[in-house]
Amino acid sequence: MADFIVNGRSVLCGEVDIHGAKNSALPILAATLLCNSKCTLYNCPELSDVDAALKILKYLGCKIHRQCDAVEIDPSNAFGKEIPDFLMREMRSSIVFLGAILAKCSNALLSYPGGCELGPRPIDIHLNSFKKMGVEVDERFGSINCQCCNGLCGATINLPFPSVGATENILLAAVTAKGTTKIHNAAREPEIIDLAAFLNSCGGKIQGAGDSVITVEGVAHLHGCEHSIIPDRIEAATYMAAAAATGGKILLKNVIPDHIEPVFYAFREAGCDMEIGENTIKLTAPKRLSRIKLIRTLVYPGFPTDAQAPIMTMCTVARGTSIFIETIFQNRYKHANELLRFGANIKVEGRVAVVEGTERLYATEAKATDLRGGAALVIAAMCAEGVSRITDIYHIDRGYQSMEKVLTKLGVDIKREV
Ligand code: EPZ
Repeated sequence: MADFIVNGRSVLCGEVDIHGAKNSALPILAATLLCNSKCTLYNCPELSDVDAALKILKYLGCKIHRQCDAVEIDPSNAFGKEIPDFLMREMRSSIVFLGAILAKCSNALLSYPGGCELGPRPIDIHLNSFKKMGVEVDERFGSINCQCCNGLCGATINLPFPSVGATENILLAAVTAKGTTKIHNAAREPEIIDLAAFLNSCGGKIQGAGDSVITVEGVAHLHGCEHSIIPDRIEAATYMAAAAATGGKILLKNVIPDHIEPVFYAFREAGCDMEIGENTIKLTAPKRLSRIKLIRTLVYPGFPTDAQAPIMTMCTVARGTSIFIETIFQNRYKHANELLRFGANIKVEGRVAVVEGTERLYATEAKATDLRGGAALVIAAMCAEGVSRITDIYHIDRGYQSMEKVLTKLGVDIKREV
């Protein structure tokens, strides 16, 4: 298992090219299964979660060719219906292969997905939606056995919660289903729009992606296409938080500022100056940050839950008290305990965290508990005087491409110790 060794304090300064979005690449990779010819994806990030998705595609019979951030998938001989437990466990997003396999093969056998431990990660919304489309679901002995002998039928589906994964899964099942599907209370994240854009480039007929009501008119088949994955808004927010926490100055390139807009208020309230370009964001931090009165995580276009941990580290060194309310996941404060080891002052009570800013953080050894929590610890290590060690960084490698290379270019003394 690798560790990061960070010699703080650092002040981030320089430019960073933001990579393709993990949470867009994963459902789009699953979607390539539906095509009857080759797809090429550009700006596809080099992450362990993407590697896991490519392993699943290969297991199902796809031919894969990868050259840096370009991935070619030939699904023409992919008729696999089962994904074994060791592949399903690697990430949460493996569940969106269910919709794709059902659309292609009319039955599927999967075990439960893995992913970050952020509290319970049920898939009831996914499965109830598929039942409405004519799928018989048998959940026994730890596996999910789905049959739809007469093929998937379009349906009107009212989501009890605008689940990102469930919206994606329904799109994959509906795009070649018989008839029309209407999704009410759909997730509105930019990654949904990117998935719909990919499917429409392949011949799909999806309208309303990005709004709460999405209409899908089933088509007979999908052809391959070329598609460039949108930039990763959470990677961007993470490096902005690192620059802010260390009193630095950063130019982010290859971003879509509108996707990151929901976090701008937090950086402005903290005292950062931001210049927004067409596909750039320039952030200049004050010497010391001011507290952020309230961060309440919400579904898009509210404040993204994935940015909560990195922004919490910013608040640990700000002047004053910041309050967090995590409304999306039941247990997404595991990083708080690890931040206490740096000398942060955080009190967690259920979904609320109260962060009392402190002048300094102190080098220590800390353990990454999940993807975004791990990034938060690296930011803390940059703020702390002395040499820190972050362990279990495999969590970080799931969602941040070569974080140590990006940070070294920005002036951070960070090494990966294998
Ligand atoms: C996606 O997870 C992202 N992952 C998460 O990013 C992100 O935090 C989340 O959306 C919210 O934006 C990927 O896209 C791979 P949800 P997902 O379904 O689809 C409950 C990261 O760090 N729920 O919108 O799993 C669920 O328990 C990761 O990159 C049900 O109750 O999120 C949670 O409380 C972490 N039943 C809430 O909805 C269901 O069937 C949000 O889940 C599905 C979800």
